[in-house]
Amino acid sequence: MNAPVRHAHVTGWGRYAPSHVLTNKDLERMVDTSDEWIVSRTGIRERRVAAADETTASMAAVAGLRAIRTAGIEPDEIDLILVATLTPDYWMPSTAALVKEAIGNTRAAAMDVSAACSGFVYAFATAQAYIAGGLATHVLVIGAELLTRFLDYTDRSTCILFGDGAGAVVLSASDEPGGSLAFEMTTEPQGAYMIWLPAGGSKSPPSGETIARGEHYIRMEGNQTYRFATKTMATTALTAIRKAGLEPDDIELFIPHQANIRIVEAVAKGLNLPMDRMYVNLDKYGNTSAASVPIALAEAVNEGRLKVGDRVVLVAFGAGFTSAAVAIEWTADPARGIAGDAAVRAEDVHVRLPVDWDSVDPIPEALAELMRRPGPVDPPLDDVAPGEPEPAHTEIHA
Ligand code: ACO
Repeated sequence: MNAPVRHAHVTGWGRYAPSHVLTNKDLERMVDTSDEWIVSRTGIRERRVAAADETTASMAAVAGLRAIRTAGIEPDEIDLILVATLTPDYWMPSTAALVKEAIGNTRAAAMDVSAACSGFVYAFATAQAYIAGGLATHVLVIGAELLTRFLDYTDRSTCILFGDGAGAVVLSASDEPGGSLAFEMTTEPQGAYMIWLPAGGSKSPPSGETIARGEHYIRMEGNQTYRFATKTMATTALTAIRKAGLEPDDIELFIPHQANIRIVEAVAKGLNLPMDRMYVNLDKYGNTSAASVPIALAEAVNEGRLKVGDRVVLVAFGAGFTSAAVAIEWTADPARGIAGDAAVRAEDVHVRLPVDWDSVDPIPEALAELMRRPGPVDPPLDDVAPGEPEPAHTEIHA
């Protein structure tokens, strides 16, 4: 007799974005650019910047706890924590280990997944494999990034693109059909040096010289990356859709990586679908790398863009070059997300610091003035879902 198939359903979702807003106008004062150029070439209007006491782990923990509350389970029911990030708090331990403690879980395995902006979908596939293989029942999958600390605010071709934030889902085992249906993942190493961060690893350990050369900042060949993205995103999505036995028109909503509106338009065109099938929030957050897909998914669900039985495709591309897509049949009550968000206040979530920690100000000099502005602009969480309770305070006391 065959063992029952274990399906992986999304049962929880949550997001967190820091409250400081960096607008295109702010960037005009830093580099030779304009709001008009940024909006017309990318679609981005503003992005969020993490406060000095926030880290990738702290943002990940808030989003993760919100996803757990949405799923209606306890933190200790999570068997595996996966954090997709290219901006971990430290090289070691993993950010996932810090998140485990911060969310109050005592029993999960925890590890990070490194696949740049495709990382969340790669981690989602990893979670599905653990569930299908019987190794886990509930997996917390988080995409979290603090990119503003790795940007060169004299390089107008990169500093305008990226922002900070975190998003998460809980994937849960079930014998019921539905949930994740099919995946496609690719890696094309000829793109390895098209988006990269040269120094800090074993090839080029951090030193005064590497810092003087600015090798601790993200570098990117924008045109090559753009070409890869427009060539690959639609194909990757289509392959996942066909593996699920579906056609693009069967998909109610696409959640594409939020890198550039022109790239999202190319995905729609490549799939021969109207733009209203593409969820877009990059105007508010910029490119948050591995966090962009789960933040967008959580917002789309909370805005009522998905209902039970809908098919949704998550699709991303990123450094590597990597790309990844998953086709999902949505089975959770969309109304649960708003309560999940409201149940977790960021100020109540703490990431423990090492005992001998000697604090340095992590805020890039170019952003110092922005971060000194009185009272951060409105927190993000109730501009999306009408009727949400008062927004949570967004300060995190580490
Ligand atoms: N403001 C004004 N002018 C600018 C800016 C700016 N911020 N940035 C570049 N320019 C200039 C360039 O110097 C160039 O000037 P020139 O013609 O005098 O040489 C001109 O604008 C055109 O530059 P392009 O690079 O050709 O502009 P393009 O239309 O390709 O847009 C962009 C650039 C937005 C970076 C685009 O290539 C893109 O989105 N690429 C994909 C990037 C991406 O998604 N990266 C994330 C990958 S995910 C991950 O894993 C991290």
